[in-house]
Amino acid sequence: MENLSFSKNTILIVDDNPINLDVIFKVLDEAGLEVLVAQDGESALQTMEYVIPDLILLDIMMPGIDGFETCYRIKNNASTLEIPIIFMTALGNTEQKIKGFNLGAVDYIIKPFQKEEVLARIKVHLDLRNLTKDLANKNQLLQEKIIEKTVLEKTLQQLNQELENRVEERTSQLQEAVKNLQQIQLQLIQSEKMSFLGQLVAGVAHEINNPVNFIHGNLNHAETYIQDLLEIFQLYQQQLPSPCAEITTRAEEVDLEYLIEDLPKVISSMKVGVEKIRQISVSLRTFSRAESTSKVKANLHEGIDSALLILQHRLKANDKGQKIEIVKEYGNLPLVLCYPGQMNQVFINIIANAIHALEDSSLKRTSEEMKTNPNQIIIHTEINHSQNSAIIRIKDNALGMPEEVRSKVFDYLFTTKSAQKGTGLGLSISHQIVVEKHNGQLSCFSEEGVGTEFIVEIPLEDV
Ligand SMILES: Nc1ncnc2c1ncn2[C@@H]1O[C@H](COP(=O)(O)OP(=O)(O)O)[C@@H](O)[C@H]1O
Ligand SMILES: [Mg+2]
Repeated sequence: MENLSFSKNTILIVDDNPINLDVIFKVLDEAGLEVLVAQDGESALQTMEYVIPDLILLDIMMPGIDGFETCYRIKNNASTLEIPIIFMTALGNTEQKIKGFNLGAVDYIIKPFQKEEVLARIKVHLDLRNLTKDLANKNQLLQEKIIEKTVLEKTLQQLNQELENRVEERTSQLQEAVKNLQQIQLQLIQSEKMSFLGQLVAGVAHEINNPVNFIHGNLNHAETYIQDLLEIFQLYQQQLPSPCAEITTRAEEVDLEYLIEDLPKVISSMKVGVEKIRQISVSLRTFSRAESTSKVKANLHEGIDSALLILQHRLKANDKGQKIEIVKEYGNLPLVLCYPGQMNQVFINIIANAIHALEDSSLKRTSEEMKTNPNQIIIHTEINHSQNSAIIRIKDNALGMPEEVRSKVFDYLFTTKSAQKGTGLGLSISHQIVVEKHNGQLSCFSEEGVGTEFIVEIPLEDV
């Protein structure tokens, strides 16, 4: 039996016949197997509570529970059901064999025993059992690996997702930062522009001021001198009613009578012109007044007027004869505590937008329509007594805007204009100035095809 090696497998023999037991014990023991014995089914089941054999040799006819019942119980116990069972039976009992197979037996050995056959069969089933065990172990291992792999894959997926989320988050943070930066840059450019404009205007106003005052002062003298000269000239005429031919001819050449009549008119129209330049210079200086760090009391009407002055050239008739009429309905506003430079900027932004809108609508309206409904900006001011605030309404009769535009006009960078014409900053900056810097309100009402009205409301301090 050198070929058969059983590497320490345990066999349980169950038989009530001591001679049988003895024979088969010897055979198995010699073959190097661990052998356990039981003399009936009950004690076999008990043994298996402590030791699980690798194979069972089971007699059929036994006192107490017989081999079939024992087999049935073994096969119905989760910890023993895998153990291969070989029945030991007398020769030729086919019925018993079938019953045994049906109960889950793997084989039979016939009594009396043929030593080689017994060992060969046991070997086959032990090998099979070991292979099955091995397979089951490998299967288990494989399953564990698969689970491990699935877990790994899941973790990897989660990590991946997390990474993606992080990247997304970071990207949107970056985008936000870039946007903020762009906004700040635009705001800087805008305020840079405004302060440059302010300085320029202040410089020009200052430079104009002296020569204009000069002319203004001298014009008064010139007027008196001319008056005096004319009086004296009249005296001469009275004293010398018939001058010489040379004087008469020259007087006719220059149309002396007309000249005498026109000269005072020339002077007074020059005075009107100079007066106008002086007003402009004052307005310019109001507009460009150095930005005070604290609020000061200011006349808002002056601010509006200086804003209008700066935009004057765009109100005049263009080559198509389209002009914009400014209707001032100024109420009795007190001085308002504010940052005058910033308030002027608000007025300029709103009025410039109205002018823009009117320029656009002029292109779309027939001259007939323009005649019956000429371009107009109405500037109305009043005190709101119940709120104790100053109200400035700036209303145009351009084409208005649809609701989806109106609801966005104060949004940062919102514009419907081309890049050269609009920045989308004017109204958002104005809103900030009115609401945040002055605790006021800026609202916009618009009706498509009819026009737009902006209402600025600045609280008046109780003084
Ligand atoms: N009086 C108005 N009539 C029609 N649309 C206006 C008027 N004022 C402002 N808007 C709309 O509001 C938008 C935002 O204005 P604003 O913030 O001043 O930016 P911008 O003038 O640079 O476009 C304009 O592009 C325009 O569409
Ligand atoms: Mg604008």
